[in-house]
Amino acid sequence: MPIDLMAGTATSAVVTASTPEPTILVFDSGLGGLTVFEQVRRVRPDATYLYAADDAAFPYGGLPEPVLVARVLAVMDRLIGRHRPDLVVVACNTASTLVLPSLRARFGTPFVGVVPPIKPAAAATRSGMISLLATPGTVARAYTHDLIATYAGACDVTLVGAPNLANFAEAELAGQPVDDTALAAEIARCFVTAADGRRTDVVCLACTHYPLLLARFERLAPWPVTWIDPSPAIARRVLQLLGPAPQDADRMRMPVRAIFTGGGSVTTPLRHSLASRGLREVMIDAMPLCVNDAPAD
Ligand code: DGL
Repeated sequence: MPIDLMAGTATSAVVTASTPEPTILVFDSGLGGLTVFEQVRRVRPDATYLYAADDAAFPYGGLPEPVLVARVLAVMDRLIGRHRPDLVVVACNTASTLVLPSLRARFGTPFVGVVPPIKPAAAATRSGMISLLATPGTVARAYTHDLIATYAGACDVTLVGAPNLANFAEAELAGQPVDDTALAAEIARCFVTAADGRRTDVVCLACTHYPLLLARFERLAPWPVTWIDPSPAIARRVLQLLGPAPQDADRMRMPVRAIFTGGGSVTTPLRHSLASRGLREVMIDAMPLCVNDAPAD
């Protein structure tokens, strides 16, 4: 798999340059992918966007790996079959660190994935102490451990699998923010002081939900650190693959449709929040998570 690790992206085959008005599907377990969608839409405002949230299976972070692979393939099968995107952004570290090879084997559509931004973190740290804040799934992945061994071998890397943060980000978007104590408890393990006095100075936001909480993280951090959000790099990768938007493209003129596989969490405040981000049309395409989604062997 060709990987642009500097950018925190993992990409597949290159599409022809300058695809006019492409259809781009941005996919996540929930609404974290909006942080990536916003960056991508900035660089290709002329595209038609579909935002798909597999909320029936949210959160992905706690799913066993075989269940997650089968689930993402099944949902993608439906989405690609129905909407025929020119490119899919898998705006989810938990899925990208596991499922991209299977997606590429099954579908001809190009995929851009999001993987933990370890390489830029290693380049940015001065103390040599990095923390990777992610879902329990991403923290456990062999892929993540390989990235660290390859690009941050000279650093002390603290892996922090946050059990509740993705849920907290969803609550924030729905206008029901959790209190500071709960949020501070989730990020506390990122802040490490070594015996020689060195301290963590870089934290990778290795879940697309977390930038939704960045302003609060900055306020609650026990000391200032550099937070690395890979989403601008993902947008640059999409631009590289699709080519630039035409000069006369109306900025963000296209209405964006949000598709949910469950819809249970789509409250009125959440609809308002989505509308304020340009997602004015909400559609439920029900796809319950079944135990049968896992392969038998
Ligand atoms: N947004 C997803 C990610 O980047 C994870 C959220 C979840 O646990 O479903 O990993």
